[in-house]
Amino acid sequence: MKTRIIALSGSLRRDSYTTKLVKAFQKSAPEDVALELIEIGNLPFINEDLEKDLPESVKAFHEKIRESEAVLFATPEYNRSYSPVLKNAIDWGSRPEGQNHWNNKPAAAIGCSPYSLGAFGAVNHLRQVMMYVNLLTLQEPEFYLSKASCFLGEDGNVSDPETQNHIDAFWIAFTDWIERLKR
Ligand code: FNR
Repeated sequence: MKTRIIALSGSLRRDSYTTKLVKAFQKSAPEDVALELIEIGNLPFINEDLEKDLPESVKAFHEKIRESEAVLFATPEYNRSYSPVLKNAIDWGSRPEGQNHWNNKPAAAIGCSPYSLGAFGAVNHLRQVMMYVNLLTLQEPEFYLSKASCFLGEDGNVSDPETQNHIDAFWIAFTDWIERLKR
């Protein structure tokens, strides 16, 4: 049985580098891992009024989290933080009150930017919130990719060997982390 990991991309943009980064992680995933990019753009804005009768999209999202063994969060950087679409998904995953679907789930955060700081600010804000919702977050290695437009192609192709090595090393650490938490 493959280890089922879900990936959330914090960008809804058609040609998103963040989504391309997730595709690069999919292409480089170990054979015994199934990394599924899941839909979060269909979730309504978080609104406690909706919690009495949860929308189908939220129920389906909760089911995806429940079925997964781990979660990979990929974020762009918006004004030195992570994206609202990702925050919205994290918030829905933690609701209704008393039903935190993230609780004790192994997780990791990655980010990229076409500019020089590689979404460092975004990933650090993201990790802070991941800690609060009790996602068991991989600490090392960190993953920030700058100049993403130069390195990430279509269908998970990575043109830069150093970036590819970083992705491979990240996978080794992340799968080891997931295994360790099973013990
Ligand atoms: C950005 N961008 C950006 N980039 C960055 O490196 N640091 C930042 O703080 C910001 N701030 C920011 C705010 C907003 C509102 C937008 C829309 C964009 C640029 C951003 O990195 C760029 O648009 C990426 O291409 C977005 O990621 P995707 O959509 O390619 O995954």
